[in-house]
Amino acid sequence: MKIAIAGTGYVGLVTGVCLADKGGHNIICVDVNEEKINMLKSGKSPIYEKDLDELILKTNRQGNIEYTSNYECAYSDADVVFIAVGTPERSDGSANLDYIKGVAKQIAVSAEKDILVIVKSTVPIGTNEYIENYIKSQLKNNIKVEVASNPEFLAQGTAVRDTFEASRIVIGVESKWAENIMLDIYKNFENPKVITNRNSAEMIKYACNDFLALKVSYMNDIANLCEIVGANIEDVAEGMSYDDRIGKNFLKAGIGYGGSCFPKDTKALHWLSNSNGYELKTIKAAIEVNEIQKLKLVKKSAQIVDSFDGIKVSILGLTYKPDTDDLREAPSIVNIKYLLERNAKIHVFDPVGMENAKKIFGDQIYYEDSIESAIDDSEMCFIMTEWEQIKEFDINKYKKLMKKPLVFDGRNCYKIEDMKKVGVEYYSIGRV
Ligand code: UGA
Repeated sequence: MKIAIAGTGYVGLVTGVCLADKGGHNIICVDVNEEKINMLKSGKSPIYEKDLDELILKTNRQGNIEYTSNYECAYSDADVVFIAVGTPERSDGSANLDYIKGVAKQIAVSAEKDILVIVKSTVPIGTNEYIENYIKSQLKNNIKVEVASNPEFLAQGTAVRDTFEASRIVIGVESKWAENIMLDIYKNFENPKVITNRNSAEMIKYACNDFLALKVSYMNDIANLCEIVGANIEDVAEGMSYDDRIGKNFLKAGIGYGGSCFPKDTKALHWLSNSNGYELKTIKAAIEVNEIQKLKLVKKSAQIVDSFDGIKVSILGLTYKPDTDDLREAPSIVNIKYLLERNAKIHVFDPVGMENAKKIFGDQIYYEDSIESAIDDSEMCFIMTEWEQIKEFDINKYKKLMKKPLVFDGRNCYKIEDMKKVGVEYYSIGRV
């Protein structure tokens, strides 16, 4: 089959390259951004993602993947088009479907043979049906079009592994024709397949992401209570993790979840629910806890220092989690804004997120090329991301290099006793 993929972000690119690697189909990845397409043609990944560069080179050599910015060429004779473009949130929390509609329109005017359109982007329940009707209303040629839902569950940083080792492939279809095509696409993937209707497939994606966001917010809430009553969240999490009914993942407390998915998907489901006259109280609580959590440490620091005015503050870790260069909805952003508003001199370090940080903060903050230079002579330090490099940092240097050794650790990177031993005033999450 000829499979076109619209969008070369984390989802589209990883899907395209992994499908190409498994063989059996010809893949063509489409993106409006010429620069990205040229990079991909030359075998380079435009995003930072583990194992992706090697796989791009390998599949380019294999020859069953192409990259283009010419959508007409890509869609005219495609059997299938995956839509994997962004669905950013609108100011009211609802999902913005403009990019998806844009691609749907391109498909409608370009497709010259029967085509299955597969929505991989996370979309509100009912969107697949809406897109199908929209494409049909715009069709240039007399062809058959159906839309199927195939939500993805890959996480940034482990996207390639998550695709090859997917715990399940969810397929939302309304006909046997679409089901058979979907099964053919994934014929070389051994992973369990869940076949359901489109609305349920769309709901599975939101229910999963929002459950995980709720789990993280729950742990953050319990962590805050631990601090008050003198318990240790890490021991509590360990004790919980052995219970199969709870599971061991997503029990890590910190300064809140971020990224391009949880914040957006919790708000979108809450919005969808409200607009259907039902209040999703659990998800509302998850969102509220997360908003408060993000500023927890900086607010604690405000009680310790008289003023931030003119003082050097270091921020270690900017990305929303380790192993990605993505800063979208990262807790570091609101913290930096809070400190900038109070006139602090902010010196930041992140192993891979600096370029993206420059796009947000420009010359308002100082970018350092090591942890040492970021903390040198600073009066307080905030840890926002648990990068390995930060966790393995020689903690004696906080005492040695900082003007005042005052560390606020939003990711529990160090042991309290160790920090005490080296003489650092240390605050973390859910531990006393
Ligand atoms: C998430 C889901 O995990 C994927 O399954 C899904 O496909 C993806 O969204 C998506 O919708 O595209 P991602 O946002 O890349 O993936 O990252 P996660 O690893 O899930 O982390 C999300 C946030 O939760 C991060 O800010 C992380 O620091 C935080 N988190 C995670 C915690 O605070 N504690 C934990 O124990 C786990």
